[in-house]
Amino acid sequence: MAITAKQNHWTLDSVIGLDHTIAPDYFRSAPAQVAENFERLLSRDVFSEADAQFLYDWLLVRGVSPEFRQMLDRWLEDELKHYQGLRRCYRALSGVTYAEMDREAQARAQQRNIAPIEDLLVDEFSILLLLAYDEIGSTYSYRRDLAEFYRHFGKAIARIGQHLVRDEGQHFSNAAELILALYPERLKDVEATLAKFDVREKQLARTGSYHGTFFLDHAQEQARFPSDFNAITMQVIQARLGIAAMPSQERLTRLWQWKPAGCEFVPV
Ligand SMILES: [Fe+2]
Ligand SMILES: [Fe+2]
Repeated sequence: MAITAKQNHWTLDSVIGLDHTIAPDYFRSAPAQVAENFERLLSRDVFSEADAQFLYDWLLVRGVSPEFRQMLDRWLEDELKHYQGLRRCYRALSGVTYAEMDREAQARAQQRNIAPIEDLLVDEFSILLLLAYDEIGSTYSYRRDLAEFYRHFGKAIARIGQHLVRDEGQHFSNAAELILALYPERLKDVEATLAKFDVREKQLARTGSYHGTFFLDHAQEQARFPSDFNAITMQVIQARLGIAAMPSQERLTRLWQWKPAGCEFVPV
């Protein structure tokens, strides 16, 4: 069956330039502590996007179906665009130079370790489901970050946030479509496989071991999500695959509007 991954088309340079600056007014009018927290957030998110290249290379060595390969090529193009876009945002916000970011990216590459999750990547079905799991998590977490951080620093930065939300949502949808097209007989395994991802992510969060391999990269910030975040996103995945009802709108909204008690935004 021919299946073509969908891709949102946008060019980075038309949204934000390499030398983009944020007018001082935005820093003055942003709510207290928002700039500092946004800077900390970007210092992590920039590099998580770059991890996509590692995962792509790892998957290609391992071998993937032609349909998955077609999707991965578009996916990588998007993720590397996110990396470049977040570098521009991070530089504008913090003054950290591109050369400093290059050095940081190299240092992180030395520490990569896929071992803590490798046993989850047993077959293409599991890999696609893990991709869907990660991408739906990213969709809601960027949606929250757009509302809490990106929108306070001018049109270009806000538009980057909007593109991130849309692209990650499309990546989720593409992974789900491939599961439906290529592995319909595995739908019975979805619930148990997702449960394994959830358990592993919580283990990784406890041990603080971030492995820089793209998958389960939200393990490092479990405290930034409501306690039922995984349960709800897992239900969204199952609903997208036609094997569960969609969570209520109220529960979906809470995924990105939740804040810890007494906080105006989710601290980073
Ligand atoms: Fe991304
Ligand atoms: Fe993505």
